[in-house]
Amino acid sequence: MKKVYLFLLSLSISFSALAREGMWLPQLLAQLNYSEMQRMGLQISAEDIYSVNQSSLKDAIVHFNGGCTGELISSKGLLLTNHHCGFSMIQSHSTLEKNYLKDGFWAMNLKEELANPGVFASIVKSLEDVTNQVLEGVDQNLSAEEREKAMAANIRTILAAEKEKNPKLDFEIKDFFYGNQYILISKAIYRDVRLVGAPPSSIGKYGADTDNWVWPRHTGDFSIFRVYADANNEAAEYDLNNVPYTPKQHLKVNIAGTNDGDFTMVYGYPGSTQQYLPASEVNNIISEYNPFRISIRDEILAILDAKMRVDEATRLKYASKYARISNSWKRWKGEIIGVEATNGIIEKRKEEVRFTKASRKIPAIAEYEHLVPEMVIAYERRVPLYLERYAYIEVGYYGLESFRHLLAYSKLVDLKEKNALADDLQKEGERLALRLEGFRKDFDADLEAEVAQKILPLYLDAIATDLPEIIEELKSKDAKARAKYISKLFAKSPLADQGFKDLLANDPGKAAKMVLKSEAYQLSMAMYKHFISVLNPAVADQDAEIEKLQATYVKALQIAFPEQAMYPDANSTLRVSYGTVEPYEARDGVEYESRTYLEGVLEKYVPGDYEFDLPSRLIELHNSKDYGPYGENGKMPVCFVATNHTTGGNSGSPVLNAYGELIGLNFDRAWEGVMSDMYFDTRRCRNIMVDLRYVLFIVDKFAGAGYLVEEMDLETESVAMRIAKAEALKAEQEKVLAE
Ligand code: ARG
Ligand code: ASP
Repeated sequence: MKKVYLFLLSLSISFSALAREGMWLPQLLAQLNYSEMQRMGLQISAEDIYSVNQSSLKDAIVHFNGGCTGELISSKGLLLTNHHCGFSMIQSHSTLEKNYLKDGFWAMNLKEELANPGVFASIVKSLEDVTNQVLEGVDQNLSAEEREKAMAANIRTILAAEKEKNPKLDFEIKDFFYGNQYILISKAIYRDVRLVGAPPSSIGKYGADTDNWVWPRHTGDFSIFRVYADANNEAAEYDLNNVPYTPKQHLKVNIAGTNDGDFTMVYGYPGSTQQYLPASEVNNIISEYNPFRISIRDEILAILDAKMRVDEATRLKYASKYARISNSWKRWKGEIIGVEATNGIIEKRKEEVRFTKASRKIPAIAEYEHLVPEMVIAYERRVPLYLERYAYIEVGYYGLESFRHLLAYSKLVDLKEKNALADDLQKEGERLALRLEGFRKDFDADLEAEVAQKILPLYLDAIATDLPEIIEELKSKDAKARAKYISKLFAKSPLADQGFKDLLANDPGKAAKMVLKSEAYQLSMAMYKHFISVLNPAVADQDAEIEKLQATYVKALQIAFPEQAMYPDANSTLRVSYGTVEPYEARDGVEYESRTYLEGVLEKYVPGDYEFDLPSRLIELHNSKDYGPYGENGKMPVCFVATNHTTGGNSGSPVLNAYGELIGLNFDRAWEGVMSDMYFDTRRCRNIMVDLRYVLFIVDKFAGAGYLVEEMDLETESVAMRIAKAEALKAEQEKVLAE
């Protein structure tokens, strides 16, 4: 008995060990991943996932507005993505009277859908390796600059030829593996994308910043759009006469639910990762860069939070800014803990030792025996410069909004100094007046002055290289003198002058003089110029060297370990990750289950709270257990986790089952595993998804927009049931054949 138990245990361990790190190129799945995916449970062919010649799942995957992923879920162009991906569009249609962010929005027919100028959705047509063409005639002995030039010329030629062949498509060439591979991407860009539906933020953003990056999660993070095309179903600019786009393929939605261990894959646009860094650079990130950036944001967030908690107006003005600043801040903290808890640095060092040993044995890479130490040195040299760069980015760019805003006045100042035509000056003044109005709407000058008192000194203490006089002088002041200077800076800023907006519109020349004279403008310009003309070029020199070493390293790794398939770092191109639905051990003695239910949403409910309030309609539905076909054993599933390797940009990605049917909508990762951008560990890296059944429940039961569900193709049979049926059929056939 005991033996059987042990055997089962080892079986289950080797099963989860099958879960796989990596974000793979869809056109290479057949070659690199397919047999493993099959072993993990995949039931469809590699061509069903990606094909150029026939329709495939890829035709339903959308790069949503450049930053997120979305997917087509009906034959009428219905597009599903996250609430946080559609947030700014929902916000742009919201007013105090029609507050769609707060109350949600549902178009009850095509006519009620809302246009979003500037928003686009692109769909890949094909991915093609063009490495040889890009590198044609690019001599390795040329200088870095000359190589760049030669390659850029090749790329222009390829793109121009493609565009001529196919003027309706858009083309782009992206580099992979630090320039070891180039891929030509052809895509159609749809520019008429209308808002169809969004739940209230109390569902779509439930748990907001407190729950962000955290499992167990209870957020219904989705919104719905529709892609429109012209009368020929071609991509087109917005036009009232456009019609819903008919995709070559749209995803079926499976509402049968999943079990732990079930195969899943995520198809989408991961933004950026750094999987091949030397251990020492991972160490720099978690012991230098992250702590430094966190320390600056700690100050910003503490000040914002204190005022947002007591003042409703401030909360409204700063909610979105707070979310933006806290998102990475929280992830950086998680990265530090995650790398430490998994011994990431030591594990990466072990890999490096294995590589160095291999290089001693394999003649083709014998010359790279010292490659790792060379990389370490190159990265090490960059550390002080990088800290200075981050000091500017965190303080001058993210931290002090008014500093960033003031940079916009440089053109006006320029026009004035060059005695430009009155007309030009006037136009620019009016443009800035408008911009200032938008800026002031959500700006609290006192709050920013308070932030500046804390973070400008942090900038001054961090900055050292080739400083301009104004910064040098400030740096030499003691704390008291700095504080005095900063309060004067804000008090005398043109932004603090109530008449400034009218002055811009009526006497832009005078406004320009006022700007130029102000110390706020002078300081913010000096900081910016120092960043652009001193820090960036210095870092660029280091980066060029690092890129070259990294390119050599990833190439040499492939030679050292040919049996190990490698995936390129994420670079906002279409990828497939795969894994299984899995619970995990968060820390000693704490096991997390793989799914959450509506009960948990109610457990977190805090009436009136800005993060955990709930719409009464949802509470009613919970109390009456009115879940329609979407519930499971009397409960309403909400979110679940799996071992798919994802990153920023994967938000809104479809999570597909073994038959390629939609079961979840990706939106986040679990805190314990957010270090996956540089070090993935299957034991604790989990992607977080909304269960599609919760999405449909909210659309249908909560919002009464069941007509949208009717547009979709629902599958109610589970994967296990279908496999069992197929196997029974096969057995039956075999029996008949044998008889
Ligand atoms: N952490 C998720 C991602 O990186 C969700 C961010 C949006 N939500 C928030 N509370 N900031 O995008
Ligand atoms: N929340 C992220 C996004 O918006 C996803 C992640 O980082 O896991 O893309």
